[in-house]
Formats: sequence, structure tokens, C-alpha cells
Amino acid sequence: KKIGVLMGGFSAEREVSLKSGAAVHQALLGRGYDAVTIDVGSDLPEILLRENIQAAFIALHGRYGEDGCVQGLLELLQIPYTGSGVLASALAMHKLYSKQAFTAGGILTAPFHFFRRGEQIRLEDLCFDLPLVVKPVQEGSSVGISIVKEAAELAAALDLAFQHDDGILVEQYVKGQEVQVGILNDRPIGAIEIVPKNEFYDFEAKYSDGMAEHIFPARLDSELYEKAQQVGLAAHHALGCSGYSRVDLLVTPAGDCYVLEVNTLPGMTALSLLPEIAAKGAGLNFENLVESIIETAGL
Ligand code: DAL
Ligand code: MG
Repeated sequence: KKIGVLMGGFSAEREVSLKSGAAVHQALLGRGYDAVTIDVGSDLPEILLRENIQAAFIALHGRYGEDGCVQGLLELLQIPYTGSGVLASALAMHKLYSKQAFTAGGILTAPFHFFRRGEQIRLEDLCFDLPLVVKPVQEGSSVGISIVKEAAELAAALDLAFQHDDGILVEQYVKGQEVQVGILNDRPIGAIEIVPKNEFYDFEAKYSDGMAEHIFPARLDSELYEKAQQVGLAAHHALGCSGYSRVDLLVTPAGDCYVLEVNTLPGMTALSLLPEIAAKGAGLNFENLVESIIETAGL
């Protein structure tokens, strides 16, 4: 079967995706698949028809790739693809609708307000106090996110978030361990803990070697570790995700597991977490993981 690795694209996470795609492509070749890379642009429909691939491994991140757009095109062209479908992808990319689905499913997520561009945003109107987190409603890799500790920092944080989206979330800051749960074959395969050198696990900490410590397994007692995995799986299901994902959580000292988001197309770069969780939690090296994702998709 000829497999197209879809990568690049035009989101803020293009560079990350190029790295994920190159690594996935190498792994597929290593496993003997006939694989080609496809740098996604507006000519994607023509390329897909011309290349005559039998399946697509989606190694895109962010807008147009992780949000259901490309998945919809592949559905129309009847090309099987890895990962979640149109609806789950769109829900997971959108932090407001994700939160609504989590809340409906009884899953904890930080209290928040949603604002559209142009709306008045005043600290005194919020239902929580500083510190808080400001984020664009549809981004990945922490692009456009700020932690606001003092009132004077709010304006700059809002400006930055609105550079990336017409909608933003202002969220209560939750202090806890940053834990990420890997899901493969719709089952949890382990939880890793991130200790960033920066204030939080921002873009730099995610993609610069040495900027974050990864601790596997996450330092939680066994009951809480199991709970984190179950909350991760519940979040994956609450959005209707299929196959694999990586669920980002904050675990508080009181043992509450707050879901930040579900990444339907988690990073597959050398420093990415799902590959590390798969290796340490399920004994799958990178090639095994890629093959397993392809198989999950029934390709
Ligand atoms: N959005 C990035 C790629 C991740 O979650 O790994
Ligand atoms: Mg993300």
C-alpha cells in the first residue's frame, strides 16, 4: 500500500509538523512501507488525486490539519487516514467546545470565560482572581498563551492571544503537576510528567532540548496515576476521538485531575511526549508506534 505522510500545512505549528512528518516517513520506510511525504498546501486535492495513495498518515498539527479540515477532504476522496474523524478533530482543536464536552461528561476542567474580539474584558467581572491564563481558543503547542499574575499584564496577554484567533479563553490558573496521558488503540498506555524550566510548558520548553524535564512514570501515587489515565481516556471519549491521542492534564496536590486538552495529532518529533510514553509505558519504539497507529486506522 502506498501511504502519504501529510505534513507542513499553514498553521502556527508548521515547523513542528515538518519534523513530525519526517520522523514518521522514516519510520514507515524502515518498516518497509511505500511512503511519500506530502507538504500540505492549497493544492492538496490535486496532489492526493495524482499521488494515488491508498492511505494517509496525518502528521499535521494545528489549524487546517488537526481540526477536521483535512480529515473532511480525505473522507470526500475516500482515502483512509490515521487518527480521529472530522467531528472529534474539530472539537478537540476548539478549547471552548472541548470544555463544554468535558463538563457534560463530568470531567474537570479549569473555570473559564470565553470572549470574542471587541468584547470588554475586565478582571472584576471574572468569576475568579489572578493568576489566570489567557489562550487563543484554537491553537496548539502553547502558541499565544500567557500566564497573567498581575493586572498590568492582562492587556498584553489579550493582545497576544487575539493575534492568533478571534476568540480567546481567560482561564483560572490551576497549580499542579503537568501530566500527559498517552492513548493508543483507545486505551491509556502511561502518564508522563513534565517539569518545564520556563514558567510553564511553553513553545520553547516543548521544542528545545533541555528546556523541560520529562519524568516517566509521572510522580503520582499508584491510585492517582491510574485515575489520571482514566480521566485521560474519558476525555478522549468525551470528544469522540478514535485510535490515539495525548491528553494534557494538571494534577493538583488534592488529587484533582484537570483536563487541559486532547491532542488528536500529538507531536511525533524527537522531543515529543507520545513517543516517549509509548517507549517507556508500552515498550514500543518509534517505528512500532507508527506502525501501531497505521494499524489502528485499519490501513
Ligand atoms: N500540538 C503539539 C504538536 C502537541 O501537542 O504535541
Ligand atoms: Mg495541543
